[in-house]
Amino acid sequence: MSKLFSPFTLKSVTLRNRIAVPPMCQYSAVNGFVNDWHINHYAALGRGGAGLVIVEATAVSPEGRITPGCTGLWSDDHVRGMSEVSAAIKRGGAVPGIQIGHAGRKASANRPWEGDDHIKDQEPDGWETIAPSAIPFGAHLPKTPKEMSTEVIQRVQADFIEAAQRARAAGFEWLELHFAHGYLAQSFFSEYANTRSDEYGGNQRGRFILETLEAVREVWPQHLPLTARIGVIEFDGHDEKTLTESIALVREMKAKGLDMLNVSVNFNIPDAQVPWGPAFLAPIAQRVGNEAGLPVAAAGGIDSPRLCEMVLEEKQIDLVMIGRAHLANPHWAYQAAKALGEESPSWVLPAPYAHWLARYAASE
Ligand code: NDP
Ligand code: FNR
Repeated sequence: MSKLFSPFTLKSVTLRNRIAVPPMCQYSAVNGFVNDWHINHYAALGRGGAGLVIVEATAVSPEGRITPGCTGLWSDDHVRGMSEVSAAIKRGGAVPGIQIGHAGRKASANRPWEGDDHIKDQEPDGWETIAPSAIPFGAHLPKTPKEMSTEVIQRVQADFIEAAQRARAAGFEWLELHFAHGYLAQSFFSEYANTRSDEYGGNQRGRFILETLEAVREVWPQHLPLTARIGVIEFDGHDEKTLTESIALVREMKAKGLDMLNVSVNFNIPDAQVPWGPAFLAPIAQRVGNEAGLPVAAAGGIDSPRLCEMVLEEKQIDLVMIGRAHLANPHWAYQAAKALGEESPSWVLPAPYAHWLARYAASE
């Protein structure tokens, strides 16, 4: 059996293989509510053969949405639709996960295919953004956010707790906290975005992340995986410093109950020199995993089965996140099983597909 198709256990959850679909926003919700698009999309991914499907960045409050089309879990009314999504994933044999987050100063943007820029102040769809300091991201996201008071920080942390509880009520078994990509939590940890002089700034820039994680851990069941995605590198020319500080933070996160890390890029500045390329984050994830002492996952240009085998063989990462390749082909795992010479590859798919693909050799 290939490494990719070997099971992976974290806490009480066992994934049927090491293929995970990372969170990918669909920008297709209305007022945070999912609809047929989401149910069909996630059902296809659930039956496609991956071990884990993580539902897109889901906002903990309305102002925490990236765009007006982002999903939300800020009210009990959102739980029903999300229950259908998690059930659809589970029916296909994958473990249902969800990422919850707050977009901070990158919120209130147009959908990517409608400009990807901040909604203009005079337009009705937009809203006031909040952040650790009143510093805009820049470039296509020029809106100046309002600096968060301690009360607002506590309110957002309470929103994270409630969203985590709703995620569980909706049947999710794997929770990922979105602490990456220049959104609210990541921006608290960034010197570019956080110039506060209180207990959430300076050498306490990690405090928002640590407090939020600890609070969520208290309500998220101990036997279920609690993971986080954070950027550990900015690609701004100060990478060793950022990596070292990030690894120290991850060690503290582990002490607060973090079970696994999805390693990513910071994206706190618009002009980072990201070295996009095949599996470019895997060696970085390996270092973080080794030095912080916890299992790691990573996405980013890992879309060939052989590359997956390589990063797993070399123990760079424990779980492979395969994003856009799943948009191209929700049955990516079936193709991978064939490419890696798995026995009965069609049976990574459900019986109504697998039987017919297996029956005639040509299909296999
Ligand atoms: P952008 O999508 O504007 O990307 C920032 C820069 O990175 C741009 O120069 C862009 O190139 C380049 N870039 C992004 N993805 C790739 C890629 N796969 N290959 C080559 N170049 C790339 O910034 P965002 O902050 O919106 O997204 C940054 C990252 O986060 C991306 O990887 C994106 O896929 C991901 N993302 C995360 C979301 C989330 O966490 N909720 C939501 C959506 C995306 P160019 O200008 O040519 O596009
Ligand atoms: C993303 N990405 C992303 N990341 C995240 O943490 N939360 C999210 O909701 C999203 N949304 C999102 C939407 C879309 C359409 C894309 C393409 C990407 C980033 C994603 O999880 C992944 O890291 C990247 O796509 C890189 O992996 P691949 O696509 O090279 O396998």
